[in-house]
Amino acid sequence: MDVIEAIKSRKSIRAFLDKPVKKEVIEEILACAVWAPSWGNTQPWEFAVVNGDLVKQIGARNQRKLLSGEKPNPDLEMPEKWPDVYRARYITVGKALFTTMGIKRGDREAREKHYLNMQRFYGAPCVIYVYIDGALVAHYATLDVGSVTQNICLAALKYGLGTCIMAAAVHYPDVIRELIDLPSEKKLVLGIAIGYPDPEAPANRFRSTRTSPEKITKWYGF
Ligand SMILES: Cc1cc2nc3c(=O)[nH]c(=O)nc-3n(C[C@H](O)[C@H](O)[C@H](O)COP(=O)(O)O)c2cc1C
Repeated sequence: MDVIEAIKSRKSIRAFLDKPVKKEVIEEILACAVWAPSWGNTQPWEFAVVNGDLVKQIGARNQRKLLSGEKPNPDLEMPEKWPDVYRARYITVGKALFTTMGIKRGDREAREKHYLNMQRFYGAPCVIYVYIDGALVAHYATLDVGSVTQNICLAALKYGLGTCIMAAAVHYPDVIRELIDLPSEKKLVLGIAIGYPDPEAPANRFRSTRTSPEKITKWYGF
């Protein structure tokens, strides 16, 4: 797969087969991904790769928190509102995903089921948590995390793996810290659900759209 094809075919996968991912495969993906650029080559990313039963335990605890109504408490502040144009895109993608999944507008039960499923990483057998040191300037370090994260998602394609980058994976950092050895000075940025895509799942038929570059680009000096 060439680079253009990989970039264009990557999409978020939201249903996974119950099939484990070999540690060596994740090692190869990470060995490729760390060639991402970073500010002054600081490479601020660190990874915690969680697999198998531990993923299930984290998922179950996350679900309990969500069901109890506990508010997310991420290490890094997450956006809650956006200027109109971005909010419209956020709402549009959510609605379109639910439509593809056959979830009707008023079907609260199905929506809640979806959010619970999100908290278990959509059934992915493995999650790559990406974190940074709390002493770093977060907005620059998270730019670099974005680069390495995209590399992980693209490299995964070579192995037939699908990914979903997930802010929801780090909504309850205490749960993660209870189960893995993550020092308090390290700040979780996101989790990447990774596994073999379920080809039958309606969620995986979904394709998001993009604003055309024509609408967001100004050209000078041509
Ligand atoms: C930083 C970040 C956080 C995200 N968090 C979630 C999440 O918690 N749950 C989810 O289902 N998708 C999440 N996504 C996936 C986006 O919804 C998705 O990338 C976007 O709608 C574009 O769709 P595509 O990835 O299929 O191209 C996240 C993406 C990014 C970059």
